[in-house]
Amino acid sequence: MGAPGPEGAAGVPPAIEIRGLVKDFAVGLRGLRLRAVDHVSLTVRPGEVFGLLGPNGSGKSTTIKLLLGLLEPTAGGCAIFGVPSGRVEARRDVGYLPEAPNFYRFLTGRELVTFYGRLCGLAGSGLRSKLEEVVALVGLAGAADRRVGTYSKGMLQRIGLAQALVHDPRLLILDEPTAGVDPVGSAEMAELILALKARGKTVLITSHLLGQIEELCDRVAILDRGGLVAEGEVAELAGATGRLSFETEVLPPEEIAALRAWLESRGRRLEAVAPARRRLEEVFRTHVGRGPRDTEGGR
Ligand SMILES: Nc1ncnc2c1ncn2[C@@H]1O[C@H](COP(=O)(O)OP(=O)(O)O)[C@@H](O)[C@H]1O
Ligand SMILES: [Mg+2]
Repeated sequence: MGAPGPEGAAGVPPAIEIRGLVKDFAVGLRGLRLRAVDHVSLTVRPGEVFGLLGPNGSGKSTTIKLLLGLLEPTAGGCAIFGVPSGRVEARRDVGYLPEAPNFYRFLTGRELVTFYGRLCGLAGSGLRSKLEEVVALVGLAGAADRRVGTYSKGMLQRIGLAQALVHDPRLLILDEPTAGVDPVGSAEMAELILALKARGKTVLITSHLLGQIEELCDRVAILDRGGLVAEGEVAELAGATGRLSFETEVLPPEEIAALRAWLESRGRRLEAVAPARRRLEEVFRTHVGRGPRDTEGGR
């Protein structure tokens, strides 16, 4: 084998390759242009969960649409498993969950996934077995014959994930899959994404909810006003600060004073003493059950 080229050491193309991507939109009548994506370059390796983060309007969805070939770039380009995004073949290996999908609400979950399966060229027993597999995977087997219009927000996102998975793509692009979903639903979505990663899928996920992403992603990139402002491993960006914190039961003031004195005798300083707090999300997740409320009446 020759020297590692742009395709990486093993000769495997990256799952996603974005190079110098720019997208301008025309706004207003005076030929005014808005730069939604501003010279973004990034690489997503096969098998990783990659988080594209940024506030509303930072260019996440536009980047995804460029990647899927739904929009034409102003400059630069992108490729999926080495195939340029403009080409139809680039789409074959991608499952896409759009931001706020608007599914036809009179279809049942099963009919919806069947519809997308047919669009992807599946038919017959192959489609039927894949349909049952993905519906079970997303935990909607008990509700799959209900109309999508009766689904909760969390269930809609899960049937959307089933739809994205039906043709067994290697790459999943999930645009804000937990937006508007309650904490229990978000935790379920996170578990599903990790299960997909365990099956070898590559996942690109966008979010403005940073806490959720932190637990899920191997690497993240942060966009601001269309530009890439940070990129790296979560552990590297959000990890160790080079400082230590301790947790103990509550101590009486004299013991804290003794601890402080002991540290000072060694030339150190006790810099912070504060009651440890639980995050509200943790409390919510301990007290609120999962599952039945989504599928009740669906069996
Ligand atoms: N089709 C469009 N026409 C004009 N402006 C657009 C269009 N799509 C997105 N924008 C603008 O581009 C910027 C980035 O939008 P978007 O990619 O949807 O951001 P995000 O997904 O990060 O919230 C925003 O200012 C948005 O208003
Ligand atoms: Mg968006």
